[in-house]
Amino acid sequence: MVSSSSFFQFLLVALTCVGLGSAYVGPGVVSGSTGTHDPTICKDKDGTYFLFATAVGISITTSTDRTAFTYQGLVWPNGASWTDEYTLTSNGNLWAPECYYDGSQFWLYYAASSFGSQNSAIFLATSSTGAPGSWTNKGLVTSTSTGDSYNAIDPNLYIDGSTWYLSLGSWWTGIKMIKLNSSTGLSSGSSVTSLAQRTAASGAIEASSIYKYGSYYYLFTSWDVCCSGTSSTYNIRVGRSTSISGTYYDKSGVSLLSGGGTLVLESHDAIYGPGGQDILEDGDGPILVYHYYTSAGSFLGINRLDFSTGWPVRKRRKYPSGLSDHYLQVVA
Ligand SMILES: *[C@@H]1O[C@H](CO)[C@@H](O)[C@H](O)[C@H]1NC(C)=O
Repeated sequence: MVSSSSFFQFLLVALTCVGLGSAYVGPGVVSGSTGTHDPTICKDKDGTYFLFATAVGISITTSTDRTAFTYQGLVWPNGASWTDEYTLTSNGNLWAPECYYDGSQFWLYYAASSFGSQNSAIFLATSSTGAPGSWTNKGLVTSTSTGDSYNAIDPNLYIDGSTWYLSLGSWWTGIKMIKLNSSTGLSSGSSVTSLAQRTAASGAIEASSIYKYGSYYYLFTSWDVCCSGTSSTYNIRVGRSTSISGTYYDKSGVSLLSGGGTLVLESHDAIYGPGGQDILEDGDGPILVYHYYTSAGSFLGINRLDFSTGWPVRKRRKYPSGLSDHYLQVVA
């Protein structure tokens, strides 16, 4: 006869094997308005999650539980004419926003460009509520033009103590970082630091995101090709450094300035080209927010991250004690 405690032991082992047996954690259980591209996520003082993403006018989606998402509208419902000289069209797509909520106000960085062009700019907007149409245009943060060594897209804010940094960039000579004025949120000088660069794959690296855990800064990037439906080859890479300005190294000790980058997430099963990521420090720890493609479009993925080994891995299902927490909600 099998005692109940050994039965539960068996159940635990069996379920753990199911959890660990699959090669990858899935993109998390999310519902509602989950179509997205290059998402960034912030939480306001009431605990509401705001997800901003690439769109004409920049889309706003909210959630009260990080699971069910509801589309709200646009940051710029009446257009953003100041971006037209970079999108080269009237009211064009605005790319890869980055949000920060300071306790009373949202700060939103976003890029205006066109595919394959260095005629690009990063702008700043602010809002106290985050609601559609509530935003103030704070103007240009930084820009590039043809012939520059990098491309002013994909902004990511990191506040280190009282110093504001913006990492940015893609392709060409890779990921850069500039300092911002912490009272205006705009650029505070002309110095540009290089954080990561590839020569492989035509230098395809973008979508930087910096997160600090323990004594290390972790620099996440997306490699390869972003936006090709189920042919998208985006994959999320990471390196770490004890200084925000580098040098960042991957797990094998290769500098991120020399093509290093440890794999965090790549295409698997029917999930194609995960990337365009952001990291939110939430009540249950760091969470990775990204998009991925299926044959039906691009969708929101959310996974909790575990940095306990010194290198981030996506948390797996935890049975049975985790059934009531976000393990199940975000890694199923
Ligand atoms: C930041 O901007 C404010 C407002 O323009 C200015 O008064 C201040 O001197 C700037 N700070 C730095 C460090 O540049």
